[in-house]
Order: sequence, then structure tokens, then C-alpha cells
Amino acid sequence: MQNNIEKILESHPLIPVVTIHKEEEIKQLYEHLSSQGISCVEITLRTDFAWEAIALFKSEYKDSFKVGVGTITSVEHIKRCVELEVDFMVSPGLCPALKENFEKSGIPFLPGVSTPSEIMSAMELGWRYLKFFPAHLFGGAKALKTYSNVFKEVIFCPTGGINAENYQTFLDLPNVMSLGGSWLVK
Ligand code: 3PG
Repeated sequence: MQNNIEKILESHPLIPVVTIHKEEEIKQLYEHLSSQGISCVEITLRTDFAWEAIALFKSEYKDSFKVGVGTITSVEHIKRCVELEVDFMVSPGLCPALKENFEKSGIPFLPGVSTPSEIMSAMELGWRYLKFFPAHLFGGAKALKTYSNVFKEVIFCPTGGINAENYQTFLDLPNVMSLGGSWLVK
């Protein structure tokens, strides 16, 4: 249903969320992440340079890295991801209008939710691997613990406010397989 996003989540418990401003940052980023044993990155669409950064990162390191795109909010974004053959897509929210494009892309994708109603809407669409965002503003690990009792089949990838001190608490939850954050590149 989500083009096997679970394979990405299973293999990469820590997903760095990065914003790239210029070409020089790419090699540095690759080296920094590799030295931590990380081989996966989510590049956000928060800068004008983002698409170029994604293409460059892919062409340089596609053999050793899974390169994902964050901040997916439109059909146009999904089309560009298909053109660039990225490894996964992450959306900050849940948008049923993107369902067909997401599923037909063939690229693993992770939609975002924060509330019980959004989780139920995602389940209705047939999606059970969900980004929990922004985790720190919607109850963090405590909310996910509650969700584990209510939505037993849903697996979350929390992001937002996760850091070196609290990430293990999230990873220890039964409904968390992996998580994301910018602290991994700071
Ligand atoms: C994201 O895009 O997933 C988050 O902005 C990452 O949040 P952080 O910067 O608090 O880790």
C-alpha cells in the first residue's frame, strides 16, 4: 500500500532530517552521517537549492545511501521525486487527494499525522506507517504510548523535537520502528 516504506523504516532506525543550502554542504553531510553509521537521509524542500541538492546527493551516493525527500505537499513534488528516482517521500501531513499519485509513484512514502482523527483517516486510506509530526507539540512519547493501545496496527515514525537525550525513549515504544530529526546533523 505504501510501496514498502516499512523496508526503509526497518533498516534505518535513525533518519536525519536535513536542509541543504549549497553544494559544499553535501560531501560534508555524507561524511558526517557515514561516520555515525547512518546511510539514509531525508532532504527537506525548505530551500531553493533543495531539488538540486537531492539530485546531487543521489548521483554521488546512490549506491551507499537511501535518499528521501521531505516536505512533500503536492502532486508536483511527487512527480519530481519520480523523475529523480528518489528512495522515499515524507509528507508533514495527511492529504487524501495525493493518494493516487503517492501509490502510483512506486516510491515508498510516509504521510504525516498528529491527532487520532488524522490517524483514522490514514487507516481509512489503507496506510499504517505514519510520520508523527511535530512530535514534541502533540504529546511526544506519551501520546504514542496512548496511541499504541488505541491503534494497535499503526507504526509511527516520530519527528520534531527529538534529540540525543530523548530518542531512545521513542525507539523503545512498541509502535515506533524508526524516527527522524535534525539533531543528527548538528
Ligand atoms: C521534520 O521536518 O521532520 C522536523 O522539522 C524535524 O524536526 P527537528 O528539527 O525538531 O528535529
